[in-house]
Amino acid sequence: MIKEYLDNINNKETNSLLVSLKSYALLNNVPIITDDGINFINQMINIKQVKSILEIGTAIGYSAINMALSSEAVITTIERDEKMYEKAIENIRLAKLEKRIEVIYKDALEVDESNLDKFDLIFIDAAKAQSIKFFNKYKTRLNDRGIIITDNLLFHNLVVTPIKDKSLKQLVKKIDNFNNFVVEQEDFDTYIYSIGDGMSLSIKKEVIK
Ligand SMILES: C[S@@+](CC[C@H](N)C(=O)[O-])C[C@H]1O[C@@H](n2cnc3c(N)ncnc32)[C@H](O)[C@@H]1O
Repeated sequence: MIKEYLDNINNKETNSLLVSLKSYALLNNVPIITDDGINFINQMINIKQVKSILEIGTAIGYSAINMALSSEAVITTIERDEKMYEKAIENIRLAKLEKRIEVIYKDALEVDESNLDKFDLIFIDAAKAQSIKFFNKYKTRLNDRGIIITDNLLFHNLVVTPIKDKSLKQLVKKIDNFNNFVVEQEDFDTYIYSIGDGMSLSIKKEVIK
């Protein structure tokens, strides 16, 4: 009930491209970030005056385009699926954001991260079983006081639901492992929020020299 109340009262998306990307995602079963999730990230981008973003998991480019439209940040986003990559490129072109969004077509675990710049914000939204690997690999590309946001940590509430299916159970176990891992990282101040499908916000602690 509260969700419906807030959905009705909160500002509606008016950008026609974003509205059509959302419908496309729904029709084609492409998982994209929730409204709560993207609004949380966009407000974080503005509060922290984020200038550069790395996203792991582009899909059709919905979240990357959304972040670019609500800020002046430049975005690098990584996608391993060819069809998704091509659709993202098409959508970024439609949004006229080619100069601010670069899509890398590769498995994020195979990208040589040492060739990448450093970023103010890293958004992890790819294969959920690999989140620890993404976090460890890409935290080296984070600026001081930068933030890492990871999505789908409640996994449609399955983290608290008894599951019989063996492979789903394993996946949910890995998400639970990530949740316990991420809050224990001593170089980050992390809190997991029940926003959207569950999101962690990890702020890199300042290194005292
Ligand atoms: C949840 S979708 C991303 C949604 C997008 N961030 C949005 O909200 O609009 C996850 C995407 O990550 C991609 N992906 C999964 N594992 C990946 C990996 N190891 N490297 C690159 N992309 C990956 C999938 O192909 C899929 O398109």
